[in-house]
Amino acid sequence: MAGVTRMESMWLQFILTCFVFSSYLRNGNAGITSTFIRSEYPSVDIPLENKVLAVPKGHNAPQQVHITQGDYDGRAVIISWVTADEPGTSKVQYGTSEKNFEFTAEGTVTNYTFYEYKSGYIHHCHVDGLEHDTKYYYKIGSGDSSREFWFITPPKINPDASYKFGIIGDLGQTFNSLSTLEHYMQSGGQASTAYQSWIWSAGNHEIDYMPYMGEVTPFKNYLQRYATPYYASKSSNPLWYAIRRASAHIIVLSSYSPFVKYTPQWMWLQEELKRVDREKTPWLIVLMHVPIYNSNEAHYMEGESMRAVYESWFVHYKVDVVFAGHVHAYERSYRISNIHYNVTSGEQYPIPDKSAPVYITVGDGGNQEGLAGRFRDPQPDYSAFREASYGAFDTGEIQNRTHALYHWNRNDDGKKMATDAFVLHNQYW
Ligand SMILES: *[C@@H]1O[C@H](CO)[C@@H](O)[C@H](O)[C@H]1NC(C)=O
Ligand SMILES: *[C@@H]1O[C@H](CO)[C@@H](O)[C@H](O)[C@H]1NC(C)=O
Ligand SMILES: *[C@@H]1O[C@H](CO)[C@@H](O)[C@H](O)[C@H]1NC(C)=O
Repeated sequence: MAGVTRMESMWLQFILTCFVFSSYLRNGNAGITSTFIRSEYPSVDIPLENKVLAVPKGHNAPQQVHITQGDYDGRAVIISWVTADEPGTSKVQYGTSEKNFEFTAEGTVTNYTFYEYKSGYIHHCHVDGLEHDTKYYYKIGSGDSSREFWFITPPKINPDASYKFGIIGDLGQTFNSLSTLEHYMQSGGQASTAYQSWIWSAGNHEIDYMPYMGEVTPFKNYLQRYATPYYASKSSNPLWYAIRRASAHIIVLSSYSPFVKYTPQWMWLQEELKRVDREKTPWLIVLMHVPIYNSNEAHYMEGESMRAVYESWFVHYKVDVVFAGHVHAYERSYRISNIHYNVTSGEQYPIPDKSAPVYITVGDGGNQEGLAGRFRDPQPDYSAFREASYGAFDTGEIQNRTHALYHWNRNDDGKKMATDAFVLHNQYW
């Protein structure tokens, strides 16, 4: 019964916002540009002495602990951490009951330099053979400075599995990010990266191409620090890959790697889309950094080149939703496509298309660059809702194969406010 109550409160929240939403819709089919203007709130980096980012006590204690899914279907994780003083151990001890770490997995350790920066010792440990839907406790480090955490594996692949997930774009390490994370936690997510699998997608801040410093290998820092299970989806590069989780097939693309026809990313995506089985994973979700549909002045048109290459596939394979970051604002599109345009056809405008995904930009996690407050005027027909404020897309709640609830909550000067919400109907079922 507890589950039912929780669901009812979700519904209530939805009906409330939906009501507001439909009263807007009566004014025609135009999209909404929210007039909400947030007051000044310091979007500065959190001082390192803040307890959230505090370096743990003890000689060589593991820090910056984060985990991600380690295989295609959710029976493995990759646990990563950094030690500052010496390489130490890369071992993970784990088990299904607290204080009883019956299993051990051996990881790897590396260190690198970036211009004058010397990294700490970066550990990655692949832990596999896990049971689905199970809580695991794990321990890393050694002696007095060892640390313990836990995570819960996702349910088995099942078209009707209900599953809640959160997406935060361009988070950064600011006070706004902190507030975003706190709201995410209140809505049932786990705030710390050490307790929950995060799906990474590389952004422009991760390119780190700095020839004037002699650093010419793109993504050097990112690739050392963020492991992805790219091999499990037959990808040749950690920057693009796919995983399946409960009832969702999630594809991560790299906006800053070659993606045009015949490139490795293009060839991989072509094959990966064929592997999607909507009978098993009804929900097809794509993540990328640069939005394909964005009506903000910031980064306007930057996603156009990827749109030209991949949009027809997204429509053909009936992708449910495409999430992007990059623009520090929130925007949601209607189901539209612009796949009939070619240089001679003259059909250059996006049109309503039932097979097209909804495009959602959530680059508003609270980055130190501040907000992108200037939207283009008038709001394009394809844009359903947009607002410049820090927020969190904190609850995507997949209910079953046909319905998912979507909530975007504005982070209103520290208070969480449900701002945009709707039901996503599965594109296949
Ligand atoms: C890695 O750390 C060792 C010390 O343990 C050091 O000698 C070496 O230069 C470091 N390598 C890089 C690439 O920074
Ligand atoms: C371009 O569009 C025109 C008009 O729809 C069509 O006749 C033509 O075949 C298209 N060309 C290509 C290469 O798709
Ligand atoms: C999925 O959930 C929705 C909302 O709770 C419900 O209306 C719908 O009938 C369900 N669909 C299936 C296939 O169970």
